[in-house]
Amino acid sequence: SLSNAPLDSTKLKIISSTKPSKPKPNDQLVFGNTFTDHMLTIEWEAGKGWGTPEIKPYANLSLDPASCVFHYGFELFEGMKAYRTNDNKITMFRPDMNMKRMNKSAARICLPTFDSDELIKLIGKLIENDKHLVPEGKGYSLYIRPTMIGTTNTLGVSTPDKALLFVINSPVGPYYKTGFKAVKLEATDYATRAWPGGVGDKKLGANYAPCILPQLQAAERGYQQNLWLFGPEKNITEVGTMNAFFVFKDSKTGKKELVTAPLDGTILEGVTRDSILTLARERLDPKEWEINERYYTITEVEERAAKGELVEAFGSGTAAVVSPIKEIGWKGNDIQVPLLPGEQSGQLTKSVANWIADIQYGRETYDNWSRVV
Ligand code: COI
Repeated sequence: SLSNAPLDSTKLKIISSTKPSKPKPNDQLVFGNTFTDHMLTIEWEAGKGWGTPEIKPYANLSLDPASCVFHYGFELFEGMKAYRTNDNKITMFRPDMNMKRMNKSAARICLPTFDSDELIKLIGKLIENDKHLVPEGKGYSLYIRPTMIGTTNTLGVSTPDKALLFVINSPVGPYYKTGFKAVKLEATDYATRAWPGGVGDKKLGANYAPCILPQLQAAERGYQQNLWLFGPEKNITEVGTMNAFFVFKDSKTGKKELVTAPLDGTILEGVTRDSILTLARERLDPKEWEINERYYTITEVEERAAKGELVEAFGSGTAAVVSPIKEIGWKGNDIQVPLLPGEQSGQLTKSVANWIADIQYGRETYDNWSRVV
């Protein structure tokens, strides 16, 4: 009867820490450096299924050094956030989207899948348990990091028969110390983030480690992040660890276009990306705007910038939400992206950031996007 037990939130066991920690002042919250008092862990075993979910004091994991996570990269994660709203509720932003993506990532590397709603309930309990550590204020939130690893102890390359799902939570402020500040990018064509048939659309740790060296090299030349290009056409795919959006304005017709790369398997299916497209399609006047998921290249950006048709650019992700772009280095040419006078972004970038923040901080209700914990 125990065989392949589904993930079951009603079995949750809570072992509380004896003394709740004091919240750090907001100005001491460096992204991802502070964690709440508790973690959630759930073990899985082939033939048995999901074990007892446990919320327990945040602590080291103890793993056999032969665990397959250490050797063959059986690791996937999610990034989502919970917000303290104006009326002092705590809400998760679109957690169903993250759970769906997490299951896709798990299936791709032969780790077990699970019932999304059950994990959302368990994460809700984890947040609830440490709710005094969910920060308050503009740009502040609780960053939620669901993670799954393969824990089979063998150097044989095979399907893991044991796995551990854990969730840790980190009170965070703005991703960049500088806050909402436009960044300089270096277009990168000597390294490739993802490729057709690969796993660029899955949130695997293996996609992130190889991004650091090109980013360091860009930083040596004075740029904060990479703009990832793909293929001989030099399609723009992503920026750093975020999805990329560009705004063009046709100088003949005056019509504006919001563009992002299509989900062709090489692009991370960002929740913020989806939220921006959904809101833009609903809120931008179709007589003035086109919203397109299409291929576009660095050459198009360069040529249109020269014609004065490049209007805005920004990155989108859970961590930084919306991150404006002011310059793109490409083959010795620094392509300038206009900003509003005296400001750190263009007009649409600013509107989009406000639309999302209004929903996340509970000033507005949109669909079922905010889930009360
Ligand atoms: C993002 O939100 O852009 C992310 O990919 C999370 C990052 C901290 C890995």
